[in-house]
Amino acid sequence: MMKKLTILSLFILTFSMLKAWNGDIIVSTPNSSLFLHASEGEELRFGYYGSRLSVNDLGQIRASRNDFNRAAYPVFGTNIDQENAMQVVHADGDMTLDLTVADVEEESLPDAAITRIKLADKVYPFYVDLCYKAYKNIDVIETWAEISHKEKKPVILKKFASGHILVRNDETWITHFHGSWGAEAEVTTEPLTSGIKEIRNIDGARNGLDDRAAVMISLDGRPQENSGRVIGAVLCWNGNFKIRVAPEYKWGYHLTAGIDEYASEYKLEPGELFSTPSLALTFSSDGLGGASRNYHRWARNGMVHNGSAQRDILLNSWEGVYLDVKEPEMYGMIRNIASLGGELFVMDDGWFGTKYPRDTDSAGLGDWIVDTRKLPSGIDGLIKTAKENGVKFGIWIEPENINSKSVLFDEHPDWALQSKHEIKYGRGGTQLLLDLCNPKVQDAVFTVVDTLLTSYPEIAYIKWDANVNLKNYGSKFLPADKQSHIGIAYHKGLEKVLHRIRDKYPDVVIQACGSGGGRANYGVMPYFDEFWVSDNTDALQRLYIQWGTSHIFPAMAMAQHVSAAPNHQTGRSLPLKFRFDVAMTGRLGMELQPSKMSDSERDFSRNAIAEYKTIRPVVQQGDLYRLISPFDKKGVSSLMYVTPDKSRAVFFCYKLDHFNNQWLPRLKMAGLDPGKKYRIREVNVADGDRCYLDGAVFSGSMLMDMGFEAPLWKEYASRVLELTVVD
Ligand code: DGJ
Repeated sequence: MMKKLTILSLFILTFSMLKAWNGDIIVSTPNSSLFLHASEGEELRFGYYGSRLSVNDLGQIRASRNDFNRAAYPVFGTNIDQENAMQVVHADGDMTLDLTVADVEEESLPDAAITRIKLADKVYPFYVDLCYKAYKNIDVIETWAEISHKEKKPVILKKFASGHILVRNDETWITHFHGSWGAEAEVTTEPLTSGIKEIRNIDGARNGLDDRAAVMISLDGRPQENSGRVIGAVLCWNGNFKIRVAPEYKWGYHLTAGIDEYASEYKLEPGELFSTPSLALTFSSDGLGGASRNYHRWARNGMVHNGSAQRDILLNSWEGVYLDVKEPEMYGMIRNIASLGGELFVMDDGWFGTKYPRDTDSAGLGDWIVDTRKLPSGIDGLIKTAKENGVKFGIWIEPENINSKSVLFDEHPDWALQSKHEIKYGRGGTQLLLDLCNPKVQDAVFTVVDTLLTSYPEIAYIKWDANVNLKNYGSKFLPADKQSHIGIAYHKGLEKVLHRIRDKYPDVVIQACGSGGGRANYGVMPYFDEFWVSDNTDALQRLYIQWGTSHIFPAMAMAQHVSAAPNHQTGRSLPLKFRFDVAMTGRLGMELQPSKMSDSERDFSRNAIAEYKTIRPVVQQGDLYRLISPFDKKGVSSLMYVTPDKSRAVFFCYKLDHFNNQWLPRLKMAGLDPGKKYRIREVNVADGDRCYLDGAVFSGSMLMDMGFEAPLWKEYASRVLELTVVD
């Protein structure tokens, strides 16, 4: 009897060790948990996503009916009346899927753990691995699907979401980000109602100008900056995407996100593996701001290239000279930015093309050869001048694009995306997108960068632009039965190129630009150090654009430049101090012709750049606290950065309207240590107009609870205050 029992218990022990996952799975980060039911042979069920749970909490979750216990990755077929994340046509034409759990694997990485739930169809040899990557020190869980099959012929993937979660309907609000060229990242916050909400972008090439691939769902009514539970969902895909929030009766919402299936059904060959992009989920009990800070940490931890490195202060030539690049002007700009204390000069568009010189935006893209009419001493001369002046040198390229007026197009017309129909051109009436589905084109794009960097190893920075959307839907490379792969193959091809570039050139700083903020997307940011926030450099409108952008992206990745007055996009004239104070909340740069500045403007700029250097570590690596939104129309906007140890902070405020006897809200800080005292120093003082707070010492609790009278009297007044803990 005894022996029998021992054998039985040994069997049970071994079985339960082998199937340690059988049943409940909790995927956790420091402050959040995702709870799933994974029983072998059964559908994977979604339980809960929210604040961190322990195994002991599961009973309470169930007892309080907080366990959704519904399909975690619903598929089309056996239930066709429900939201689904996946739809396929099997090799024999059958359209039904019924996925059940086959196995669960755990993988531990230095900074994260991956839970891989292997799902298999009950009838067909069709498999989906659902992966959940939970960071050990950051409250982000990335989820994606890896799809494969062993059917006799290809399976058509009609819909293939990266992830799906459920959210309760309980005063549930959505915040999303949308816009257009020069007006990116407008913030809309609205209650979720009945009816479907879809956030979608079909630009095809730079899917960040209009709707952004991110939403924040607030679970406790109207979203607050620093309180209330928030779920964030960010899709890491630079091509067409769709984030869909669909109600199911009255109890809750399905949130599904992935590549938009629009014109993109995918023919998956037997044995081929299709990985969806990741959907990065975050949960915070500290409001929208808490969710943003989670994404910023995750970004600095690797989702932005070299995320912990300090970013240089630069001058970019675009708004200074546009395409009228000439050697004396370039040398002058180098000397000027050096004399102002800047660290880098970037020569923008206009420097290349010989047979088809880049004198207008209708010629030259593809021919990355110096135009020696404009630059007789070439890039060598620019690098030499930069070196002599103690600054680095950077250069603009647009390697994914081509003008029909280029030697490259004369030689390889088939390298541009095009159909048999009349070609529709983009910018300049001649611009087209190269066919990055084609490995030869991928090589050519890699070679553009490789040739520049091997010929001129001292190039420290590249501005990588992209100014056309995906039109002319046709690839001469892809076979006729796979033309619907273009939208996906383009971006997978681009990723391959970027990967090769980063393998060989990990230290070159590369900016992602797409007619402004078109490339603000985590599908590409792991390869780029920063992105151009907007072609609109008007500091007042930038406050709105930067505010929206900051929900998902960290300050050190946001390229923000001081430009001329009147501004070239809006015609508005703003004080130089205001322009600097707005640009200083991110990676500071200048975008004007310094030779046109007065001596006093130059002196102010020199001082502002020196001041920025002192606050740069706090701005670029600190935690962001948004305080008053410009979208709230309170006449003022403000935000601040605080170091993780709360010993230093930098506070910014701006006056947006100007009226006599105007009431402005008292300004309250956030993120400080309430029990510590902070000394205030005003940064960037203009015309001796020092703020009444300069030199004062206040407790953290005073600054956060009672706040202070806004020190903003003049039109377009702005203030920057540095706070340092007093021992
Ligand atoms: C669009 C970018 O957003 C601008 O900053 C500038 O680089 C131009 N392209 C150059 O053509």
